[in-house]
Amino acid sequence: MAALLIFMILLGWAMEDNEARFQLHKSVGITILFLALARLGWRFANPPPSLPEGMAPLEKTASHAVHVAFYALMIGVPLVGWFMVSVSPFQVSTVLYGVLSWPHLPFTDGLRSEAVYGVAEFFHSKSAWLIFGLLALHVAGAVKHEIGAEDGVLKRMLPGLFGKTEPPALPGRGFIFAFGGSLLLFAVIAVASMFGSGGNGGAKSQTAPRIEGNWDVDYSASEIRFDGAHEGRGFGGVFGAWTADVAFYPDDLERSAVQVVIDTRSIRTGTKLYDDNLRGKEWFNPGEFPEAVVELSDFAEAAGGYTATATITLKGSAVRVPLGFTLDIAGDEARLSGSAELSRKALDLGQSSDPGAAYVADEVTVTLSGKATRRS
Ligand code: HEM
Ligand code: HEM
Repeated sequence: MAALLIFMILLGWAMEDNEARFQLHKSVGITILFLALARLGWRFANPPPSLPEGMAPLEKTASHAVHVAFYALMIGVPLVGWFMVSVSPFQVSTVLYGVLSWPHLPFTDGLRSEAVYGVAEFFHSKSAWLIFGLLALHVAGAVKHEIGAEDGVLKRMLPGLFGKTEPPALPGRGFIFAFGGSLLLFAVIAVASMFGSGGNGGAKSQTAPRIEGNWDVDYSASEIRFDGAHEGRGFGGVFGAWTADVAFYPDDLERSAVQVVIDTRSIRTGTKLYDDNLRGKEWFNPGEFPEAVVELSDFAEAAGGYTATATITLKGSAVRVPLGFTLDIAGDEARLSGSAELSRKALDLGQSSDPGAAYVADEVTVTLSGKATRRS
């Protein structure tokens, strides 16, 4: 844990807006919290032997005070870090080691502000110096009592190696209580967050179709895909669940219309951190807006294909963008392929934490590919 703490301080000083490092910092920090709680439980079940007799009372008090302060820091610093990410206006999800969604602290919504974050960050960052200061005292004490006249305290920590003191009776008491208790607490937190973000997967669409379709979409052969860039690297994903009502008459474009209803909870990129963020409030906010609706109108023939206007209704507001697509109709079967360029800003996605597109590029390309059969 000493090594992890030092690593965390050095990492904390070198995060430089690098999201992967932030996520690692949060992952190791929560691990330290887990270990510290387990360690505290272990200590209650296994009190350490009393200090060497020759130690001055003041030294005993000082040693005890440093230990208490270390325990307070091992628990307090990660808790403050967790509080910081919970109240930060820059709402980024935490995914421990890239696999486990970790929730924000409960009841912190009302505290979200730059000012509250600033106060917490002050204590969080200054704690590094407190840890280094205490470490100097702690190591000085250990060394002094090692080379002094007493039965070395360092040797007490490694009885098997030095053989100067009796090794403690093994196994130590309370292993299950200490580690099991801590593990249970963390499992409850992780599972609770899963229920919070899960939503009702199989809910029926709330949006009534406004179109009398004449084509049936083959969903297994159709895809709505999006591609963007984060920190200069490309990322992409799909919406796994959507329905489309298609009325398309190549000879009567006036009469043609398409309505697509997308289940925003079904967004997936293959990277848990992106998925968790995209399902967050400032992105697609599926908890409040489980559906996005896309309506195609104003169809016109263009070189090699068609153009249309896509009206995207997302989180209650509508944005119109041009869409270009090609259509291959063979008998009663049609294959579509199209794309549109969207702006994250226009769609109000991620606008509180990254309005300037410093991390996530503003441009998003949406690619459509689909297969449909004409109704008889
Ligand atoms: C940030 C790093 C460190 C932290 C947070 C830390 C924390 C602690 C804590 C909380 C205790 C008391 C355990 C208990 O009674 O429950 C302890 C004991 C001890 N630590 Fe560390 N420690 C750190 C680094 C070190 C280092 C580098 C050394 C070696 C020079 C060391 C040597 C000792 C010794 C000898 C004891 C036993 C004292 C006794 O017998 O009462 N520690 N440490
Ligand atoms: C014992 C565990 C931890 C230690 C020792 C630690 C230490 C540090 C240090 C030294 C910094 C750099 C502060 C600065 O000078 O700017 C930092 C930054 C940060 N830490 Fe931790 N941390 C710990 C746990 C956590 C946890 C569990 C979280 C969140 C879940 C967290 C979130 C952050 C954040 C968001 C920053 C960036 C602050 C900013 O620059 O705005 N930390 N941490």
